[in-house]
Amino acid sequence: MSDMPLHRLYRHYSELPYSQRVLYTMTLLVLGLGYLFALIYLFHTYAGRAGGNPMMLSYNDILTAYTGSGKGSRLESALRGPMSTMLPHDEANMLITWVHDGGDRAKYDTDIKPVLDQRCMSCHDGSNPHIPNFSGYDNLKKVTEQDTGADVFTLTHRIWLRFRHDIQAGMRLRKGARIFAIRVWRDPDERGNYLVCLCEEVRP
Ligand code: HEC
Repeated sequence: MSDMPLHRLYRHYSELPYSQRVLYTMTLLVLGLGYLFALIYLFHTYAGRAGGNPMMLSYNDILTAYTGSGKGSRLESALRGPMSTMLPHDEANMLITWVHDGGDRAKYDTDIKPVLDQRCMSCHDGSNPHIPNFSGYDNLKKVTEQDTGADVFTLTHRIWLRFRHDIQAGMRLRKGARIFAIRVWRDPDERGNYLVCLCEEVRP
C-alpha cells in the first residue's frame, strides 16, 4: 500500500484504524437492527387490520387503523385483526353478528358475556388502562360503536370563557341547541381572567 491517500478530502474506510472500522460497523448494525424491529412492530400491529390477508401489510390496513374502517366497530376490526388469535373463528363470528344486530343486552347476558369472560377478560378486565375494559355491558358498548380509528379529532371552534378552575377535557358547553366538547384550553395572558377553549362541535 502506498502512503498516498485514496481521497484528497477524507480517509477511505480501508485506511481507518481497525478500532474505528469496528465502531462504524457496529453503529450501522445497531441502527439497522432498530429499523428492522420498527418494521416488525409495524407489521405485527397493523397487518390484516382491514380484514384482508393477515400475513400482508397493506395500505388499507394502515388507513383502517387511523381513520377507522367506516363500516364495522372497533370490536369488529380487533376481532378480524390483532385479536383474531384469541378465540375460535365461530365465536368471533358470533360476536360480530351480535354487534351487527345492534348489540342488545339480553343476548349479551346469555351468549356474549360467557365468551368474553373466557377469552378476553384475562387482559381486558380493566386492570390495564391502555386497553379497553370489557367488564359490563356499558364498557363493552364503547367499542361496538362505529370505528373511527385512533382518536384524532377536529377542533372546529374557539370559545372564550371567563376564567374558571374546573375545566376538564370532554366537558361540554351548550349554546342553544348546539353542543361543544372542550378538547384543549389555555389562559391566553396567564392572568386568570379568561380561558380560550378549542372545542369540537358534537351532535346532541
Ligand atoms: C393476552 C391478552 C389479551 C386478550 C386475551 C385479549 N386482548 Fe384485546 N387487546 C390486548 C392488547 C394488549 C390490546 C392493545 C393493543 C392493540 O390495540 O393492538 C388489545 C386491544 C383490543 C381492542 C382495541 C383495539 C383498538 O382498536 O384499539 C379490542 C376491541 C380488543 N382488544 C378486543 C378483544 C376481544 C374481543 C378479546 C377476546 C376475544 C380480546 N381482545 C382478548 C390484549 C388482549
